[in-house]
Amino acid sequence: MQIKSAEFVVSNSDVSKCPKDYLPEYAFIGRSNVGKSSLINMLTNRRNLAKTSGKPGKTQLINHFIINKNWYLVDLPGYGYAKVSKSAKKTFQKFITAYFSERKQLVSAFVLVDIRHEPQNIDLEFMQWLGENMIPFSIIFTKADKLKPKAIESHIIAYKNVLLETWEELPNYFITSSSKGVGKDDLLRFIDETNKN
Ligand code: GTP
Ligand code: MG
Repeated sequence: MQIKSAEFVVSNSDVSKCPKDYLPEYAFIGRSNVGKSSLINMLTNRRNLAKTSGKPGKTQLINHFIINKNWYLVDLPGYGYAKVSKSAKKTFQKFITAYFSERKQLVSAFVLVDIRHEPQNIDLEFMQWLGENMIPFSIIFTKADKLKPKAIESHIIAYKNVLLETWEELPNYFITSSSKGVGKDDLLRFIDETNKN
C-alpha cells in the first residue's frame, strides 16, 4: 500500500469529540518516549506530522491523522515515566482507557516496546487489559537500530518466553526503526490486509 496523503485532523482529550465518520483506525500506544510519534512520521514519510521529542511526555492528546482520505493513524500519549504531573498522568490514563473501550472503529492497536528493554510489567499489564477487553493488538519492537541483529533476535526470544507465561498464542509482532525505515513495508502490508476500506 502506498501512503499518498497524510493530514492532521483533530487533537482532543475527550473521546466523544474524536472523528465520527467511522473510518477504520490504528492506534499507537506504549511507554512515553518509546517512539510512537516517530513511527507515525516514518510510516507517512513526513518529518513533523506527529510531534516528537527526546523528552518523555510530548504527546498529550488523542491525535487523529487521516491517511489517503479514508482511514486514520492515531497517536496517543504514553504511559509510564512521562515527565508530567501526577494529575496529568491520571487524565491521560482515563482518556486512553476510554479511547480503547469506546472506539469500535479501531481495527488494531499497536503496543510499542523498546527492543532494548526487558519485558516491563506496565506493558504486559496493558496487553493483558487489551486481551481481556477483546481489543486486537500487535506488538511493535522499536529502535531496532540500537541493537545488533543477534541481540535483536535474543531479545525477541526472551520477550516471547515471558508472553508465553500468560498468553496461549503470541500476538503478531513487528520490528521497527524509525530512524532507518525498518519495518515500514511489513506494517503497511498488515494495515492493508486488515483495513476493509
Ligand atoms: P511521548 O509522546 O512522549 O509518549 O513519546 P513517543 O513514544 O511519541 O516518542 P517519540 O516519537 O517522541 O520519540 C522519543 C525519542 O526517541 C525521540 O528522541 C526520537 O528521536 C527517538 N526515537 C524514536 N524512534 C526511534 C528509532 O527508531 N531509533 C532511534 N535511535 N531513536 C528513535
Ligand atoms: Mg508522542
